[in-house]
Amino acid sequence: MLRIAVVEGDGIGHEVIPVARDVLAAVRPDIEFFDVEVGYGRWERTGSACGSETMRELRSADAVLFGAVTTPPDPDYRSVLQTIRRELDLYANIRPIEGEDFDIVIVRENTEGLYSGIEWTEPDRACTLRVVSRRGSERIARCACMLAKRRRHLVIGNKANVLKSDLLFVEICRREAERAGVPCRSHYIDALCLDVLMHPQHYDVIVTTNMFGDILSDAAAYLVGGLGMLPSANIGERHALFEPVHGSAPDIAGKNIANPIAAIRSAAMLLRHAGDSGHAAAIEAAVRTAVAKGIATPDLGGTAGTREFGDAVIRELSIALHP
Ligand code: NAI
Ligand code: MG
Repeated sequence: MLRIAVVEGDGIGHEVIPVARDVLAAVRPDIEFFDVEVGYGRWERTGSACGSETMRELRSADAVLFGAVTTPPDPDYRSVLQTIRRELDLYANIRPIEGEDFDIVIVRENTEGLYSGIEWTEPDRACTLRVVSRRGSERIARCACMLAKRRRHLVIGNKANVLKSDLLFVEICRREAERAGVPCRSHYIDALCLDVLMHPQHYDVIVTTNMFGDILSDAAAYLVGGLGMLPSANIGERHALFEPVHGSAPDIAGKNIANPIAAIRSAAMLLRHAGDSGHAAAIEAAVRTAVAKGIATPDLGGTAGTREFGDAVIRELSIALHP
C-alpha cells in the first residue's frame, strides 16, 4: 500500500493539489493520503512554517505530493521548501519538458549551489555562498547519466568561464559521463537558455546546478504553454517529493482558474516512481485527451476552471480504464 503525504501549501496549491489527489485516487483507490500543513499560511497563524513533527510526518510517507509555498521577502523567513529539500536530502530535481518534436529532461542539483542557505548580511553588503561539492556534483551527475543512458546525450549547463565552482562541476560531470559511456558537451548557461528555446529538439538530458536549473526550467516552460504545464520530481536516496514547477501564484489564487496540469503530471511522476507506470501513462494520456477535446484553463486559452479540468481528466480516465 502507498502512503502519500499531501502538502497543499499556499495560494493555488490549495486548488491544484486537491485536483491532482482526486486524479490519483481515481486510478488507485488503495492509496492512503494524509495532509501535512506547511507554508506561509501556517507561519502567519502559528509563527512556524514547518515544525519538527512536520519533517517526521514527511519522512514517514512513501512519497510527498507538494503544491507550492509562498515565500515573503522577509529576512526572518526561511524558504520552507529549501529546508524540506535539504532535510530529506532530495538532491535531484527532475523536470521533464515534452512537446511535439522534443523531449527534454532538466536535472537540477537541488541541495547546494547558490541555494546552499549559507548567507549573511553585513552593514554594507549581503553575501550568499555558492557551494559546489564533489559529492553533490558526483551524485547529480550519476543521476543525469542514468537518465541520459536510456536516451541520447548529456549537456552540462554551467558558467565555468566565470565561476571557479563550475570548473569542478563540469569536470565531475564529464568524468561521470565518460564512465557511463554517454556523449556529453558543456554549454554556458546564458546561451543555453536561448538555444533550448530556439532548438529544443537538439536537447535530451541537461544537468546543471541549483539556481541555473531553476531559471532554465521556468524559461523552458515557454515551449509548452507556460508554468501551469511543468511537473517535477525531487528525488533522494530515501525520500521523494513531487510538485509542479510553478509557485503559489498569489495573483490568480482563489479564482478557480489555475491550470492543474503541472500538478496532475507531478502526481503521474509519483506513480511512475512508485513502480506504477501503467497508471502514470494513463493519467498523462487522459490529460492530453482532455486538452485535445478543447478543455483547458484560461492560461491555455480555454474557459474551464481548475476543478472542471480535473473532472474532465477523471472522466477520460474512467473511459480509458473501464471501457
Ligand atoms: P509563480 O510560479 O507562482 O507565478 C508566475 C506566473 O505564472 C504568475 O503570473 C502566475 O499566475 C502564473 N502561473 C503559475 N502557475 C500557474 C498555473 N498553474 N496556472 C496558471 N498560471 C500560473 O511564481 P512567482 O509569482 O514568482 O512567485 C509567487 C510565490 O510563489 C512567491 O512567494 C514565490 O516565493 C513562490 N514560489 C514557490 C515555489 C515552490 O513552492 N516550489 C516555486 C516558485 C515560486
Ligand atoms: Mg522556480
